[in-house]
Amino acid sequence: MLKLGVNIDHVATVRQARGGSEPDPVRAARICQKAGAHSIVMHLREDRRHIQDADLFRVRDAVRLKINLEMSIAPSVLKTAARLRPPQVTLVPERRMERTTEGGLDAAGGGARLRRALDLFRSKKIGVSLFIDPDPRQVDAARDLGVDAVEFHTGDYANRSTRPGRLKELRRLERAAGLANEAGLLAHAGHGLDYDNVLPLKKIEGLRELNIGYSIVVRALWVGLDRAVREMADLIR
Ligand code: PXP
Repeated sequence: MLKLGVNIDHVATVRQARGGSEPDPVRAARICQKAGAHSIVMHLREDRRHIQDADLFRVRDAVRLKINLEMSIAPSVLKTAARLRPPQVTLVPERRMERTTEGGLDAAGGGARLRRALDLFRSKKIGVSLFIDPDPRQVDAARDLGVDAVEFHTGDYANRSTRPGRLKELRRLERAAGLANEAGLLAHAGHGLDYDNVLPLKKIEGLRELNIGYSIVVRALWVGLDRAVREMADLIR
């Protein structure tokens, strides 16, 4: 069965807008757990623009679900990951000015820093997934690095507006998932998935987990805003 990891970064984005404690990612994680999510995803960015180090520990202690820590291999983030010891980290490329993770990691060109980070995770018994484009060369490189899983960047799939374009990207994902499985790697996928484009991914054999954030937070706003306004209007009437 395809599992759902819910990325709660943007709950923290809203909190950071006021610098207080609401909305609390811990409450969000508990709701995700109750609603059927299989894991909680948080991206600890080097600039700490949304999720903070303390959030990771508080969420880990509040839910039974697997914590999947998205991260770059920046030294300060590696230090926190080593203390947190989540069951899984997903290594992503990070550019300071980007709004969100724009592309996959270059597993092939990762070099000595990436290998040192992988040694650290191995020594702490932390499972590693690499966020890569659905490209056979990157799958081969991930296999050679000895990681446990890959997560395919679905941004190109999500951004295609025509049916033939989508189908082409879907086939790329399908082929890459097949290659990953043949190489003994778990195959995950995520980025830009929403309520309109997610269903075709169910047909890709060998995909184990979808990680979805932004569209779920947006949907929460649309299904909740009406009630929120009604409650306030009732209070001040
Ligand atoms: N997976 C990875 C590795 C990501 O970097 C992101 C974005 O933080 C997601 C999944 C979720 O993407 P979205 O928020 O577009 O659903």
